[in-house]
Order: sequence, then C-alpha cells, then structure tokens
Amino acid sequence: MPQIISDFAFLPFGGGPRKCLGDQFALMESTIALALLLHRFDAELRYPPEYMEAVTEATIHTKDGLWCKLRKRRPNAVNR
Ligand code: HEM
Repeated sequence: MPQIISDFAFLPFGGGPRKCLGDQFALMESTIALALLLHRFDAELRYPPEYMEAVTEATIHTKDGLWCKLRKRRPNAVNR
C-alpha cells in the first residue's frame, strides 16, 4: 500500500526566508547524476527493502546505507 507523506514531512532544503538558495540546482544536479548512473549500470537491492532502516538526524538517511549490486550495462543494449 502506498505511504501517505504528510505536508512538511520532507524539507531537505529548509524553509522560510533562509531556505536553501541552491535547492533547484541541487535537485537538477542529483537527477542528472542518477540518470547518468542508471544509464551505465543496472542496480539491484542486496536485501529486501523492509531491511532498510531510516535514521532522522540533521538529515533523514539510511542507517547502514542502501547496498546494491551494480551490473555494468552493455553499450547499446535494449532493456525489455
Ligand atoms: C542536496 C544538496 C543541498 C541540500 C540538502 C541543502 C540544504 C540546505 C539547508 C537545509 C539549508 C538551511 C536552510 C534553512 O536555514 O532553513 C541550506 C542553506 C543554504 N544553501 Fe543549501 N543545500 C544543498 C545544496 C546547495 C547548493 C548546490 C547551493 C549553492 C549553489 C546551496 C546554497 C545554500 C545557501 C547560500 C544557503 C544559505 C541561505 C540563507 O541562509 O539565506 N545549497 N541548504
């Protein structure tokens, strides 16, 4: 079942008059970085997603990382 995220549960760039100036740049940069990575590698989680624990500190992150198996994609391979 999809999880409902309440308003203001996700505030990685802060808010109000001192909110991050680079938020749009950072989102664009991370989207491009992820696209480049997935263009070159297939990723598969090493453990079922239920094993992933989230920790809330200054940022919300995984407790022990998000371990994946990366397999280099063949150039020009078509994914079906
Ligand atoms: C994933 C990347 C980034 C994250 C998670 C992030 C997060 C934040 C957070 C939480 C704040 C404090 C906001 C507040 O006090 O409410 C902040 C402030 C700021 N960030 Fe970022 N930031 C990121 C990338 C960037 C980039 C790429 C730039 C510049 C190109 C940038 C420039 C700034 C500046 C100048 C402030 C101070 C704004 C002020 O005090 O008026 N940040 N950022």
